[in-house]
Amino acid sequence: MIKFNITDDYIDSFSDSCVVTGVFEKSYLFPSTKKIDNISNGYISSLLYREALQGKITQTLFLYDVPNLYNKQILLIGCGEKNSFDQNQYKKVIHAAVTACKNIPIVKILLLLSEFNLPGCDNYWKIRQTIEIVNEELYVFNKFKNKKNQSKSILNEITLYIPNINELKYCQQAIKDAIVIARGVNIAKDLGNLPPNFCTPNYIAEQTQELSKYNNISIDIIDFSEMKKLGMNAYLAVNQGSNYPPIMPIIKYQGHKNESDIISDPIILIGKGLTFDSGGISIKDAHKMDEMKYDMCGAAAVYAVMYIAAELQLPLNIIGILAVGENMISSNSFRPGDILTTLSGKTIEILNTDAEGRLILCDTLTYAKRYKPSIVIDIATLTGACVVALGNHFSGLMCNEEKLSKDLIFASQQTKDYIWRLPLHEEFQNQLKSTCADMTNVGGRSAGAITAGCFLQKFVKYPWAHLDIAGTAWISHDLNKSSTGRPVTLLSQFLLNKLK
Ligand code: BES
Ligand code: MN
Ligand code: ZN
Repeated sequence: MIKFNITDDYIDSFSDSCVVTGVFEKSYLFPSTKKIDNISNGYISSLLYREALQGKITQTLFLYDVPNLYNKQILLIGCGEKNSFDQNQYKKVIHAAVTACKNIPIVKILLLLSEFNLPGCDNYWKIRQTIEIVNEELYVFNKFKNKKNQSKSILNEITLYIPNINELKYCQQAIKDAIVIARGVNIAKDLGNLPPNFCTPNYIAEQTQELSKYNNISIDIIDFSEMKKLGMNAYLAVNQGSNYPPIMPIIKYQGHKNESDIISDPIILIGKGLTFDSGGISIKDAHKMDEMKYDMCGAAAVYAVMYIAAELQLPLNIIGILAVGENMISSNSFRPGDILTTLSGKTIEILNTDAEGRLILCDTLTYAKRYKPSIVIDIATLTGACVVALGNHFSGLMCNEEKLSKDLIFASQQTKDYIWRLPLHEEFQNQLKSTCADMTNVGGRSAGAITAGCFLQKFVKYPWAHLDIAGTAWISHDLNKSSTGRPVTLLSQFLLNKLK
């Protein structure tokens, strides 16, 4: 991992670093760029005059041996219109800077891009974003390649220039938070990217055990026989066709102590963790079926957030429950037509075995009640319909409480890990009516993301939110297929906001 620092020193003390600084359109310069221009007797102005750079957003230009400057390299970044320079532009500019620097041999960077005032955000935000974007840009997954992607990057130190740091502690906290969150994102990505013959239910449970080394963490594992005893029949049915037994790891983090050892009013995070979803008897078609290895990204996100909470030792009580299993086909598989009695006692008529996520989750939601949670959030790659509704940019939010919904949306805006609320309403429940059981497991073609949410809502009796990350958990391009680590930053921010 790269080292990150902050400084309010003048650039002279960083003669061994590549200086990265900004230029707006119409030759407006960042204050630092202006300084460099002055030192170099107008070298930058003359370049701009000759239109070597127009300042268009994300344009880049490397300069070497700038007159009167000790620094050997300068990277100018176009920042677009000065007046429309906002958080999104800032993010794009940082992305562009790292992309440019990772392709040439640069060891140290002095980043001057944070000095410009951004409406509605402080240094903490800028530092967090910068570090998280650098991490994003440098992530590679090449565990299974004999010939590793030859990244030229030898970058190992980035210093952010923050003029007149008067909130040094706050800024250092930003570095610490960002590094831990960035690592968490990578953990979620790695787990998501692992193939399903490697990342099996048992593998996830083993990973979970790794967290037990942290203070205030304890792990419970609910295995097949325990589920059987409890009557988690919907959970078990989903796994019936798999050679691997289902398993439900529970990660308990008690950062907020009271007299007893019992975790009080925990925030519970539940992650859908299908290590592979073939669809079961209602089998999926072959096109992109490989991507159903990502059907455990909800569980990966929860695992990563528990890592972050433990690493930062947040003064909160949080329980992460991973609903892990595999949806396969065999003569043992559950069938369309089967009726299951869930842990809650409600019966479900199976109409489609590919709607398995809600089945594994409904028993987990019922199980969660025993902890008397203050909040429960489930995170799941639940429906293709959510991808149709919101595409790949927004995760779907469904929620039974206004405050919780507001808090999640606020955290999503801070982190740009966007979510969009969809309505839950009893009218939709009619779509789940069954002729022979309490409800069916699918609600027909219309409003598929919502009817899935409504299905889950039937099993909750506490403040609850459901995040459908089917469109956001991974990128699906032929040559660039990868887990995104979403919504790890959103959830981490949601937790951090609880400390204020
Ligand atoms: N894991 C899938 C959802 C999914 C599909 C996510 C494609 C991302 C891309 C889920 O288990 C599923 O198969 N859902 C069905 C539900 C339907 C049968 C009601 C779906 O969306 O097609
Ligand atoms: Mn499915
Ligand atoms: Zn699924």
